[in-house]
Amino acid sequence: MEGFDALGNVCAAVSIASRGEMGLAFLRLPALYRSDQTLSMFLLETERLLFREYQRGDLEDYCALEADAEVRRYIGGAPRPREVAVRKFRNGLKHAARKLALRATIFKANGRYIGYSGLYPNFRPGGSVPGEAALAFCLAREYWGRGLATEAGRAFVSWGFEELRLKRIVAIAEVGNAASIRVLEKLGFVCIATENGARSFYKFELVGAASGADS
Ligand SMILES: CC(C)(COP(=O)(O)OP(=O)(O)OC[C@H]1O[C@@H](n2cnc3c(N)ncnc32)[C@H](O)[C@@H]1OP(=O)(O)O)[C@@H](O)C(=O)NCCC(=O)NCCS
Repeated sequence: MEGFDALGNVCAAVSIASRGEMGLAFLRLPALYRSDQTLSMFLLETERLLFREYQRGDLEDYCALEADAEVRRYIGGAPRPREVAVRKFRNGLKHAARKLALRATIFKANGRYIGYSGLYPNFRPGGSVPGEAALAFCLAREYWGRGLATEAGRAFVSWGFEELRLKRIVAIAEVGNAASIRVLEKLGFVCIATENGARSFYKFELVGAASGADS
């Protein structure tokens, strides 16, 4: 089963099992909630990364990311045509202020947009699962292999459990997407199912420490 974030990308959904070293994964959280539970502005930061709401000016970088066949290999399988990417981007902007939405991911050393990461609702038929979210990350190729997805994932897992009090975070990785699977493993995610089809997917979960046996 595929989860789709606000920008229409395939994502990972997880139920989190232990928080262990997740502790100081993010450095600050100056986000404020409005009465409708959306954020007045989302900002989360790690040592090397800044996560913020999408802005109109991210369009070209987003389209470039979506046009890269290697980036899209395990998320959709083909480059996303510009007109489709533009539509997804504009639709995503409408949901940018939601509490659960993928965030523009900025490499602090050069201030560049390098992709997206974050938590989005764990969608099910009939609505999203309360107390749960799905984790996803997607970075431009030149930033792969530096531990950045792990750094981003760790921050959002901590934020999800500690700030949002989530009970479970889920994730999906296509069979063969070794880097994504490895990142999820490093974050403590556990594979709970395999979904076989024309494209096959592993389903992962991480359960929050606050979730007791009665939850
Ligand atoms: C998946 C992705 C986010 C990983 O980002 P990243 O910043 O390179 O990840 P990290 O550096 O934090 O960790 C990658 C891990 O996978 C390992 N890895 C990478 N390629 C691998 C491969 N082909 N086989 C086995 N392990 C591999 C790395 O060695 C590293 O593990 P290590 O720290 O134990 O050495 C990035 O490749 C990407 O954006 N891919 C395109 C989008 C995508 O597939 N997103 C995931 C679906 S939601």
